[in-house]
Amino acid sequence: MKGDPVTTLAIGIDIGGTGIKGALVDVDSGELQGARLKKPTPRGGRPTDIVEVVVQLVTELLAEVDGADVPVGVCFPAVVLHGRTMSAANVSNEWIGLEAEALFEKALGRNIHFVNDADAAGVAEVRYGAAQDTRGLILLTTLGTGIGSALILDGDLVPNTELGHLLLDGRDAEKRASFAAKERGRLSWKRWAGRLQKYYAHLEMLFSPDLFIVGGGVSKHHEQFLPLLTLRAPIVPAALRNNAGILGAAALAVPRVRPDAGSAATDQWS
Ligand code: BGC
Repeated sequence: MKGDPVTTLAIGIDIGGTGIKGALVDVDSGELQGARLKKPTPRGGRPTDIVEVVVQLVTELLAEVDGADVPVGVCFPAVVLHGRTMSAANVSNEWIGLEAEALFEKALGRNIHFVNDADAAGVAEVRYGAAQDTRGLILLTTLGTGIGSALILDGDLVPNTELGHLLLDGRDAEKRASFAAKERGRLSWKRWAGRLQKYYAHLEMLFSPDLFIVGGGVSKHHEQFLPLLTLRAPIVPAALRNNAGILGAAALAVPRVRPDAGSAATDQWS
């Protein structure tokens, strides 16, 4: 078994400002295989400290498959351009401009697939969750400390859309409409929904998606705010909750062959 490729299994790692989660994933079924591991994000969120935790998690997960050659996907709360982190949300500013993918690969001694966290969640929802079987333009937003976004057209991800940083009432939208903004301002569901209405109406005007998906921890309380929104497109809660980042990162680590484009086109097609 050692060194053999195990094509339907992959490791997904989801790095956040407070926790780093990881699991083995069956990328065919979209199910976690075995336990989901979680470690706190080291204080300060510095690159060397986060890399160390990721190495620990990957080592523990590889032990579960007896050292087999399992692809690894890692998602991170930043713009990720050709493996380099171009921003940093709730982690150290040392990440800005860093060759992060290469840093992880060196420490792990293997290749990884490295992607923005909301992009990973979007891919997972399209492949295994709320947008399974829905073609067209899907717009996922995660409402958490910030707002993350993923734009996916017929299964193809347009990466790094960063729609949480559109201006809303003259300010960064995530400062006004994220779940953290609700908590900071002690906003009622109704008042928060007023801000979300403006935000999603703006997104709808810009992109005319076929479906909005709302992720982030607060999506489990979706009945408190989604029914208050009036949009043309349906707006539904994410189905995969806390596991979306892990599942999407793992899925993206395993190249897929497009059935309609020959063997040359391998990507995140779903
Ligand atoms: C960051 C995004 C990230 C989102 C959710 C935003 O502040 O700019 O890159 O996807 O937070 O973590």
